[in-house]
Amino acid sequence: MPDSRLKKYLDKKRRTVDAALRRCLPKHAALPPVVHEAMRYSVFAGGKRLRPILCLAAAELCGGTAKRVMPTACALELIHTYSLVHDDLPAMDDDDFRRGLPTSHKKFGEGNAVLAGDALLTFGFQLMAENARRGRARPAAVLDVVRTVAEAAGSRGMVGGQAADLAMSGNGKNRNGEKTPDALRKKLDYIHRNKTAALIRASLRAGALLAGASPVRLNALDAYGRSIGLAFQIVDDILDIVGDKKLLGKRGSDRDNDKLTFPALYGLEASRRMARREVRRAKNALSLFGPRARILNDLADYIVERQN
Ligand code: IPE
Ligand code: IPE
Ligand code: MG
Ligand code: MG
Ligand code: MG
Repeated sequence: MPDSRLKKYLDKKRRTVDAALRRCLPKHAALPPVVHEAMRYSVFAGGKRLRPILCLAAAELCGGTAKRVMPTACALELIHTYSLVHDDLPAMDDDDFRRGLPTSHKKFGEGNAVLAGDALLTFGFQLMAENARRGRARPAAVLDVVRTVAEAAGSRGMVGGQAADLAMSGNGKNRNGEKTPDALRKKLDYIHRNKTAALIRASLRAGALLAGASPVRLNALDAYGRSIGLAFQIVDDILDIVGDKKLLGKRGSDRDNDKLTFPALYGLEASRRMARREVRRAKNALSLFGPRARILNDLADYIVERQN
């Protein structure tokens, strides 16, 4: 459980992000209704809103305001939600539950789930571009953000990680060339840094860029993002095995899919140690901010202590 100070912060920010998402997403009835319904279904099923909150926290730490970065914060949540909708498809992890509800393809069919994911991704980029007008962000900063997020979400980021995750699933039958323990460790590191850490890093960077952060501060937040991003996915792997399915809102399918995960390769205890080590690294990276980085410090602890 996050301590009460952090819990208050997370609740407040989550509510602000939810209100902004509610305002910006197309209404159910707008044509084509099934796609808009499916988009809203997955976005409002729940979710911790971690990526938008990291974007807001990074901006605030660098002297910006929540208002200035809100369209981009919402965009990050939409892109993340698209990744979940596609991740759950039968061709990928084949999961039936997400955020406590039947997955998008269970509710709307596979074709509509693919399209809802596509629409969430593209709408995310529309929102980032609109941040120049809404929030009055500097156009040069908006361009940097769009490039950063595109790279993080694309084939050299999340899609790349997901492709490797897929190739390594299923009885190891596709595990060509990763037969040595060292090659497997490297592959696992690549998967987690790309499928999950890349967007988390980009969320911090986007907030900092829009707030006009200096290169030194950008680098510090980047190092923090790399470490909490990796820790976040290690803990996701651990929770897949030991977590309370009700709290998680998903059922855990790594074992059935024979995924290459931290607990599968290192065991639960070593995985927990590795996640804690990344959290220490993340906190060290923040030292130049001094006590003003308290929220991000607490967030790093929350990432390993979380139950969902
Ligand atoms: C789940 O992400 C998928 C991963 C990248 C590990 P979250 O744990 O942030 O899921 P929500 O947004 O809270 O549902
Ligand atoms: C998902 O990793 C990463 C992305 C969606 C990009 P997982 O497959 O482990 O996420 P969950 O456990 O289904 O949320
Ligand atoms: Mg997956
Ligand atoms: Mg999955
Ligand atoms: Mg998982």
